[in-house]
Amino acid sequence: MTTQNPGVSPRLSPGLFIAFEGGDGAGKSTQAAELAGALESRGFTVLRTREPGGTPIGERLRSLVLDHGHGHIDAHTEALIFAASRAAHASQVIRPALERGEIVLTDRYIDSSVAYQGAGRDLGTEAVRDINEWATSGLQPDLTVLLDVDPAVGRRRRTAGDAAEDRLESEADDFHARIQTAFLDLAAARPEKYLVLPARLPVQELAARILERVGSLLSIAPSRTA
Ligand code: TYD
Repeated sequence: MTTQNPGVSPRLSPGLFIAFEGGDGAGKSTQAAELAGALESRGFTVLRTREPGGTPIGERLRSLVLDHGHGHIDAHTEALIFAASRAAHASQVIRPALERGEIVLTDRYIDSSVAYQGAGRDLGTEAVRDINEWATSGLQPDLTVLLDVDPAVGRRRRTAGDAAEDRLESEADDFHARIQTAFLDLAAARPEKYLVLPARLPVQELAARILERVGSLLSIAPSRTA
């Protein structure tokens, strides 16, 4: 309901917008699924979505930017593809759900671009934030859950079982280290808007801590979040 930066107008819609962020292999999707289940079992309507993607055009853009085999994609093009996917996602999926009063859980949002393209690709965090605020007309999460993962641990987790790495995942360790630092800096700058948790905690402990924080935003009594 509030602004991330001066100049961004406050959101007046009734829903709740929560973003999950973190390096690759942090366990965001698992936690988004846990939270969705917990909230639905308490009677809330939840929309789970992800970036890049979340709309038909966004899914096409996702495969363009993540799959190997599209030739060289320079950093500016990459940043704009993520922002284009996000523009569609914000206007076609997230805003309408919030206006219906739903709880929107997105696996990644603007902070991913600020961290991966702004810091990882060295395009500058301010420039990347600006194009994304323009792309989303300033739509900001009410809360961002940052799962802080050590880059080496993240790589081990995502390559377990021989899973192939996408274009971004297969970048060098120093790229992923810059991303981790950038995420933590974003959270440190606006602590009231973030819940930062170490990704190495057991799944159920993470889920309980996330539900507790979200419950306080929804005014769920503590007994209902247990
Ligand atoms: P994700 O969907 O989280 O990965 P997975 O394939 O494991 O589900 O994200 C895909 C990749 O895209 C990930 O490496 C992070 C990257 N990414 C960016 O670089 N910028 C962005 O704005 C977004 C949303 C993702």
